[in-house]
Amino acid sequence: MARDNVLFEVEDGIGLATFNRPEVLNALDVRTLEELDEVVGELERGAARALVLTGAGDRAFVAGADIASMAGMSVAEARRFAERGHAVLDRLERLPVPTVAAVNGYALGGGCELALACDLVYASEKARFGQPEVNLGIVPGFGGTQRLPRRVGPMRALEVLLTGETFDAGRARELGLVLEVLPPDRLLAHVRAQLWKILSRGPLAVAQAKRLVHAGAGLPLGAAHELERQGFAALFATEDAREGMRAFLEKRPPRFRGV
Ligand code: COA
Repeated sequence: MARDNVLFEVEDGIGLATFNRPEVLNALDVRTLEELDEVVGELERGAARALVLTGAGDRAFVAGADIASMAGMSVAEARRFAERGHAVLDRLERLPVPTVAAVNGYALGGGCELALACDLVYASEKARFGQPEVNLGIVPGFGGTQRLPRRVGPMRALEVLLTGETFDAGRARELGLVLEVLPPDRLLAHVRAQLWKILSRGPLAVAQAKRLVHAGAGLPLGAAHELERQGFAALFATEDAREGMRAFLEKRPPRFRGV
């Protein structure tokens, strides 16, 4: 299948996926979700060491699920649409490599949910966020009612979800939805610079840290600590751990090889 709705390129080991339906502000229809799923599959097969998501054009990251395609859905079709969205975003969240949303414009509804499924979120000064589903008489179906409270806390999430209001990048930062707000022309360069820092660290350790945060999030603290003990101990079998600690003691930079 030709991929037009989600463009994908790899530069210096960093994958860039660009939502590319600018005529509808990059809204997510089934085809776009399928194309995103394909890109995530490529990442699973090792296509890049990190993934950045952004939107084509200068107006939108992703302005939500495609309302035109949702308008006529039956209950069963709506359920399948949500299942598809959940499957893709869960798969994105589980990628072992770091993922970053570079939010260049509107991140509404499914666009906000997409950002929530990424490890890190940076935004341009032009970005606007929100979960406006209640204005349409529906609720988020791609994880928004679950990931948003986990990321920003239940009360802040409820304000976003119940008012359905959109808000700017500064407010998103206050809420904890965004790490930093950048001028539009510096957004991608900043994201790349942050990723280069991460990619210079021990790759097995980075993947383990990400896995532990996500896997532990739904567990009681005792069970999550057990996961952490296992993950911590497992890394001591790797050459990278020997190298990293030896390099510190020898006062030289480490040479990680991912083994
Ligand atoms: N689904 C389908 N089409 C969408 C869309 C979406 N989520 N968001 C925008 N579009 C389309 C518009 O219908 C319009 O198409 P048209 O040119 O054929 O009329 C085009 O994108 C441009 O949007 P427009 O509304 O004209 O731009 P605007 O600057 O006036 O407003 C928004 C921008 C983002 C505020 C507005 O488009 C909007 O509210 N979009 C819906 C957001 C939403 O509710 N998302 C959650 C869905 S669950």
